[in-house]
Amino acid sequence: MTSQQQFDWRPIDPGQAAAWAALVAATEAEDRQDEHVAEQDLLEFFTDPDLDFSSGSVAVYDGGEMIGYSLVIARTEADPVHQARCMGGVHPRYRQRGIGSQLLEWAERAAESVHNERFPGQPLSLGGRCLARTDGAVALFSAHGYQESRWFLRMSSDLTADLPAIQHPAGVRIVGFAPELSQDARLVHDEAFRDHWDWTEMTAEGWAHFMASQAFRPAYSFLGYDGDEPLGLVLGHEYDSYTQATGRLDLYIPTVGTRRAGRRRGIATALLGRVMRAAAADGFVSATLDVDADSPTGAVGLYERAGFAVRDTWVTQIKPLIG
Ligand SMILES: CC(C)(COP(=O)(O)OP(=O)(O)OC[C@H]1O[C@@H](n2cnc3c(N)ncnc32)[C@H](O)[C@@H]1OP(=O)(O)O)[C@@H](O)C(=O)NCCC(=O)NCCS
Repeated sequence: MTSQQQFDWRPIDPGQAAAWAALVAATEAEDRQDEHVAEQDLLEFFTDPDLDFSSGSVAVYDGGEMIGYSLVIARTEADPVHQARCMGGVHPRYRQRGIGSQLLEWAERAAESVHNERFPGQPLSLGGRCLARTDGAVALFSAHGYQESRWFLRMSSDLTADLPAIQHPAGVRIVGFAPELSQDARLVHDEAFRDHWDWTEMTAEGWAHFMASQAFRPAYSFLGYDGDEPLGLVLGHEYDSYTQATGRLDLYIPTVGTRRAGRRRGIATALLGRVMRAAAADGFVSATLDVDADSPTGAVGLYERAGFAVRDTWVTQIKPLIG
């Protein structure tokens, strides 16, 4: 009997967020991800404008227990190709039974239908990511024809150590984030990340959703201005679930960006130094971020000089679905 017959497959809804969080916790512990995502973090997925849970999500149940899931995330642009994303996982007790293969095949079918609604006639590929050291996930993607395409480094810095002195770039004012600066932050974010691999523009709804995250911490977020011109941005997140699970305060930095016109003046370095000091002063013991290992704008070197070291490597796996 296949798991399609043996288990119950249905879309995820917010009422199952606790079961989903339990599944994610089990997979994260098995894979030693040190992320500790909780129910309140997963609930934010349901208001993401790029996600349609009725057609783009599925969970596998053994009785009342969620034992696997898959999500398909559409993108805002399809030029030259709509590179949809998928994420998912199988409970460690249910691995090696073909459930991961069935979830990935489900994701490919779901990606095609989501794609045909948004970008009919355009090419489509599907991208997933896994830790480079998780042999099972790497083998699963490979067996389904995915190519390892890009590597991302998770880097952390010890905020209890001596932090590098901040050099203030001439003519640049560093300002703490405030709600009225949100559009300046969006401008910097949009322009800076145009140079990032596989980036698509954030819509106004996407930006509002990102900035409404319960993890966002304005006190650990700064902009850099030259006169009235916003040039640089650093944003900070704090995950209560991480603190509860580990007893440690870690500042996650989802965004560091400088508009092209402001680059190579030390703005990102100064913004990072500022946020690291602010967090350290409030008892944070570490800061963490993710970065493209082959960043064309040299972000890895910038972070190394700021005291960050590589902790783990993620690999993006891509398969063309519609040519
Ligand atoms: C990566 C990024 C944030 C760097 O921003 P930045 O403000 O130019 O960063 P800095 O000026 O502090 O440092 C960049 C370089 O300029 C150099 N620099 C700093 N001050 C300088 C000065 N006064 N004169 C000349 N060079 C200088 C730095 O030494 C560094 O050198 P390197 O590239 O050889 O390592 C920016 O290029 C960007 O937004 N990239 C796209 C988005 C992205 O990838 N973000 C990071 C991933 S989350």
